[in-house]
Amino acid sequence: MPFVELGAERIYYDHSPSSGRRVLLPIHGSGGDHRCWPEVLRRLPATAVFTPDLPGHGRSTGSGRSRVADYADVVAAFAERLGLQNVVLMGHSLGGAIAQSLALRSPAWLAAIVLVGTGARLRVDPAILDGLLGDYDAALDLVCQSAFGPQAAPALVRAHRQGLRQTPPAVTHDDFSACNQFDIMDRLGDIRVPTLVVTGSADNLTPPKYGAFLRDRIPGAQMALIAGAGHMLALENPAALLGHLSAFLDARVTPP
Ligand code: COA
Repeated sequence: MPFVELGAERIYYDHSPSSGRRVLLPIHGSGGDHRCWPEVLRRLPATAVFTPDLPGHGRSTGSGRSRVADYADVVAAFAERLGLQNVVLMGHSLGGAIAQSLALRSPAWLAAIVLVGTGARLRVDPAILDGLLGDYDAALDLVCQSAFGPQAAPALVRAHRQGLRQTPPAVTHDDFSACNQFDIMDRLGDIRVPTLVVTGSADNLTPPKYGAFLRDRIPGAQMALIAGAGHMLALENPAALLGHLSAFLDARVTPP
């Protein structure tokens, strides 16, 4: 299994190789791991895809971070250690906050960002934030009740909840704390890379209003709305996300 050693931490990543120049780096959201990105997105044709588990999540060792900037440091170190270039950084929710933070730093390896179910400010319902350190199961129920659109299959919701349950409560709490402190609403105009924003029309955690804000404030950004999908839109409608992602890559990013 592929790992990158970053200090004392071992960062696991799912990998789909390609001889082409196109590189996709998807970053999962709070309490998740690489499995929050369906296989069809992790095996994109003619694209090298590196899908890490953030530290403390999934198969990665180490601890969570309670600041988005600290997770951005980890992702930057990961990309640099692997020598990645022309990277399209795709982030969901917390991962989208990390992608925005890195876009503001404009490292040489970053080509574009894809912001999925996220926002420039991610205040968290105190019932979720406090609950994660109290009754973890009840807090996860609350998260999962809000995280899916009305058409999501119950089995999909159950499987996602089981995945979240495997993440230590302190790590998930760190993730949501990082989101809760995140606010770059007044800095979006400084993002200079091509940007695609994708939002579910039924997203209750990061509603379409948040996506529209990103589209309106990031220079040249474009937005796609996936009808009926909730916050976990990559799991709920991978085909729709794949379609928007592929069109964006073909039009705005390095050819394969
Ligand atoms: N993009 C655009 N607008 C945003 C925004 C974003 N990322 N974040 C907040 N806003 C807007 C709100 O819509 C609101 O606008 P309004 O005054 O026109 O209604 C205003 O900014 C203030 O928002 P906020 O600071 O979030 O305070 P709030 O009192 O509206 O809500 C919460 C606080 C936590 C209760 C609320 O954000 C909420 O219900 N969150 C639950 C969802 C959640 O936990 N998401 C987790 C994200 S990881």
